[in-house]
Amino acid sequence: MKEKDLILQAKEAQKRAYVPYSGFPVGAAILTEKGEVYTGCNIENAAYTPTVCAERVAIFKAVSQGDTRVKALAVVGGDKEKAFPCGVCRQVLSEFGDGAKIIVARDEEDYEVYDFEDLLPHHFGPKDLGGQDV
Ligand code: THU
Repeated sequence: MKEKDLILQAKEAQKRAYVPYSGFPVGAAILTEKGEVYTGCNIENAAYTPTVCAERVAIFKAVSQGDTRVKALAVVGGDKEKAFPCGVCRQVLSEFGDGAKIIVARDEEDYEVYDFEDLLPHHFGPKDLGGQDV
């Protein structure tokens, strides 16, 4: 799958963002090693802390379907600046996508690609607890 196609899916998901408090819609799409695509949008809550980022919605959808290895993640959000995955989402990726390509996009013509390791170097992960790769 091409980077642009994953970005387009993230943009579609961004339209479904539930953001009555921030007004900051984010969309994400992940490609798994199995070749499946899962999308997510941010979902806010009046109590604020239950808010979930678009990236985690997409990742948790995949994991809940038994699809646990993220190969690439595209995220679309922000106006002036592109939105990078937040620290919590990076930590979740360290569990399920520590070799993933991270595509930070405004749209399918304007994007940058990063290695996960560049966004969260020296991360704490399954290996530190003697865990197996999931
Ligand atoms: N948000 C995401 O969905 N992903 C990120 O990586 C950064 C932040 C959301 C959470 C909240 O709904 C809104 O953006 C403002 O923080």
